Amino acid sequence: MNSSILDTVVFPVAGLGTRFLPATKASPKEMLPIVDKPLIQYAVEEAIAAGARTMVFVTGRAKRAIEDHFDMSYELETELATRGKQRLLDLVRDVLPEGINCVYVRQRQALGLGHAVLCAKPLVGNRPFGVILADDLINTRDKPVMRQLAEQFAASGRSIISIKRVARERTRQYGVVDIGDADGPLSAIRSIVEKPEPSSAPSNLAVVGRYLLTPRVFGFLETTLPDHRGEIQLTDAIARLIDEQGVDAYEFSGTHYDCGSKLDYLKATVDYALAHPEVGSAFAEFLQTKVKCND
Ligand code: UTP
Repeated sequence: MNSSILDTVVFPVAGLGTRFLPATKASPKEMLPIVDKPLIQYAVEEAIAAGARTMVFVTGRAKRAIEDHFDMSYELETELATRGKQRLLDLVRDVLPEGINCVYVRQRQALGLGHAVLCAKPLVGNRPFGVILADDLINTRDKPVMRQLAEQFAASGRSIISIKRVARERTRQYGVVDIGDADGPLSAIRSIVEKPEPSSAPSNLAVVGRYLLTPRVFGFLETTLPDHRGEIQLTDAIARLIDEQGVDAYEFSGTHYDCGSKLDYLKATVDYALAHPEVGSAFAEFLQTKVKCND
């Protein structure tokens, strides 16, 4: 029995990933690797570190790659064992530790993040649950962000979402919250809006892809109408949750990379490569030479 406050984390992986075409034509963007691990594996490791045991993937086109990644690969394991490659065998087996359950549900049409989360309702049931957007990669020095949210939730019982400060001109890329005058990293949210213009944004505090929500949000998602682009926004259902139950915002410390964008994806690749135990120092030398050549 899992005694953690958080048993289930939902991973919406059904987006079209248009910013990364053609790489995302036959494979979800969450399978893009940062050095040697796909984004979705970083996300699953974060959920496990927060105490979760049930991973719910909301998949769309090209779902096979994710299912295969977390499935046992008999042929590969047999081949590695035959060749005596124990280290690689452990690496492959560690992709999904013992006791972790993966379940899959299909979002038949990409009708928005809110709709993707609603597709997970039958698998989540009437319990609080996490949502991780794997393309929002967050590198923290100590506790991963979902673990930090779970600790706050254990104390308050209130839904909580992670936020970070962004440049004003970038508010139109995010959900943005109003928390009044913040006193520390945790604040009650007064209001939330999706992708506001910088001139009308209530602040420069942007929602980043980590949420821990009460199941009440499903009821709101069921009655949320699509926006002008035909998408059901999670932000709209959270706005109603704020009014009824209250929702907190948590400003995490750590480096966030929007790996759905090419530039941030490249930045993440460089940072993780420099920190990689196998290739880090050789890669640093390479970069130094490269920068000198370009001077
Ligand atoms: P994005 O806003 O990044 O959209 O989705 P996208 O379609 O994946 O990518 P672009 O903008 O076309 O390049 C945010 C998260 O919500 C999921 C995505 O997989 C991503 O994790 N999502 C989005 C769904 O699962 N279903 C949807 O209908 C929309």
